[in-house]
Parts: sequence; C-alpha cells; structure tokens
Amino acid sequence: MPTPVATPSARSGAAARAAERAFSGIQPSGIVHLGNDLGAIRNYVALQDQFEAIYCIVDYHALTSLHDPDLLRRWTREMAASLVALGLDPERCTLFVQSHRPEHTELAWLFATVTPVSWVERTPTYKEKKASQPEDVNHGLLTYPILQAADIAIYKATRVPVGRDQDAHLELSREIVRAFNHRYGETFPEPQAVHTDAPTVLGTDGVRKMSKSIGNTIEILGPPDLIRKQVMSMVTDTLRIKRTDPGRPEVCNVCQLHRFFGDDYLEIQDGERTARTGCVDTKRLLADRIIRHYAPARERYADLMAHPEEIDGILEAGADRLKPMAAATMAEVHEKMGLR
Ligand code: AMP
Ligand code: TRP
Repeated sequence: MPTPVATPSARSGAAARAAERAFSGIQPSGIVHLGNDLGAIRNYVALQDQFEAIYCIVDYHALTSLHDPDLLRRWTREMAASLVALGLDPERCTLFVQSHRPEHTELAWLFATVTPVSWVERTPTYKEKKASQPEDVNHGLLTYPILQAADIAIYKATRVPVGRDQDAHLELSREIVRAFNHRYGETFPEPQAVHTDAPTVLGTDGVRKMSKSIGNTIEILGPPDLIRKQVMSMVTDTLRIKRTDPGRPEVCNVCQLHRFFGDDYLEIQDGERTARTGCVDTKRLLADRIIRHYAPARERYADLMAHPEEIDGILEAGADRLKPMAAATMAEVHEKMGLR
C-alpha cells in the first residue's frame, strides 16, 4: 500500500510535534469501512508520528441522526476498538469520546454567537441531511459544523486528517475562528485539512462516495465472507458487457482500489484493458487482498472487543489527559469575551 500522503508539507521531529497539533473526529457509526481507512484513518495513524495527535469519537454529532442510546454506546466502543486495531496507539496519540469533554459544547455555543445563520444554512451536509431525514430536521443538524469547529479549536489544532467530503466543514471552521479572532483578538489558528491520496473512495455501486447511510460499503474489519460478498457485488466498467470486451480501468472502481493493495496494479489494469482478465477475476483478487491486508487488524479488533474494560480505560485516560488543555482554552476565551 502506498504510504499516506500527509499534505501540506509534513515535518518530523520533536520541534514539529511541539509546534503543531493534529485533530480529527469520527462518528461512532459502528462499522469502519474502506473509505474511512483509505480516506482518513491511514492519515490519523501517520500523523501520530509527526505531530501531537488527538482523535475524537464524536457522539454529540451522532445524536443529530442516531437516537438509540444502547446503539450509540455500542457503536462508540466499536469505533474505539476499530481505531486502535487499525493502528492508533494510545501511547502516541490521545483517543477520547467527545461527550467526555463537555467543554466542546460550551465553546460551540460561544462560536455560535460569532457565526451568521446564513453560513450554516448553506452548508452542503445540512442540505443533504434535510433531504435524507426530512422527518427529523433537528437544530443539531444546523449547528453541526459549529460544534466541529469547536472540537478542533479547543485544542488549537492546525492539521485535520479527513476525507474530501469534509472540505466544506473545514472551510467553515476557518471562517468561524477567523470571525472569533476578528471580534475578540487573535486566539485560534486556522485549521487545514490533510488528505490522503484517496480523498474520495467510491462505494460498491461505483458512483457514489462509500458511506454507511447509502449501504455501499466494504466493511474491512467484518467477517471475510461478508467482505468477499461486498467486493463481488461491486459495479465495474458498465460498458464492459462481454468477458471479451476491453475494459476501461480508469473508470473501474475495482481497478482503482487495486492501487492500494499491491504494487502490481498497473499489470492488473493492463489485464482489464486487453481483456486478458475478466472483472470477476479482478474482484476475487481484490477481495483476497483486502481480507489479507486487514487480517491482523481484524484479530486485534476481536481481542479488544473481548476486553471492553480495556477500551473504556483508553477512552477515559484520553479525556482526562485533555482536561487541562480544554480548561486553558476556555479560560482564555472567557477572559476575552468578558465572561466570569
Ligand atoms: P464519518 O464516518 O462520516 O465520520 O467519516 C470519518 C472520516 O472518514 C472522515 O474524515 C471522512 O471524510 C472520511 N470518509 C468517510 N467516507 C469516505 C469516503 N468514501 N472516502 C474518503 N473518505 C471518507
Ligand atoms: N463531521 C465529521 C464527519 O462526519 C466528524 C467530525 C466532527 C470531525 N468533529 C470533527 C472531523 C473535527 C474533523 C475534525 O466525518
């Protein structure tokens, strides 16, 4: 697998670690799919060695769509286990649950007072959510990006590893901290997105972004049979009807995903282009490789889920470690805004 691309220019060493901080948030959606890993989590792992790194399971954000308390608790734990299984090391980063640091919501309220309503109303994800859950257009959906800005700003983070779908939120985060700094004096740095070389991974339908809500995912830590089924269901080049038709690897999602699971992807693409290989062969090979690549993580995940107290301990320690930093930012903000 090619190494994750940590743009903008990644620096290494103690100086960079001290100077900048990485932060990202992920929804407790239960399953981790291939898009999460190729688009974001690989970079969470890489940035642990370059910066001080903080990763948050955003349960407050999840409440804008998920209203089942038992499910939220279970999915939060599953997400934590998935992240550790995929390479987050509690010794080298801080992993915690958003609601365990309630200062995030206080800062979100304060940020709301510098954010024009028009900014949040025009957010693409708000419009999407209004369409996808018309019976539940709660106010949290509108405030969502303000809370996201607060998540990042409370730790004064500058680098935010995320997929391309988060670009609009990051832009809004910058606008919000700029508005705050303008009104109350320079306080927060402007955060920048850090993308991998796969910032948008398409789902098994081959057209839309891979996403749990669409149901077009490949569940990398799921049972091998499920992964095989999901990969074999992938839509390939829709113009390649017969086995002997030449394929177009540049538009085939299966061929594109091979880039991340072996050095021979150019050969694989050539096989498709010349009809030497069929789509079914190429999918079978991809399924084998994904299953093999994630086998160690799948094992670690099962181990962790067998010891939930270990996961809970990691999350608790993470939130405790962040308390002084969150408190310091809030004290500075209170002072600047005239509170207390
Ligand atoms: P979410 O599950 O929506 O909280 O997403 C977690 C992280 O994975 C975010 O940084 C997303 O941008 C990223 N992500 C989710 N789906 C994809 C995808 N299909 N391609 C690339 N990145 C993704
Ligand atoms: N909105 C992000 C997503 O759906 C999750 C998120 C919440 C986040 N707070 C964040 C991402 C802060 C980066 C930084 O994936």
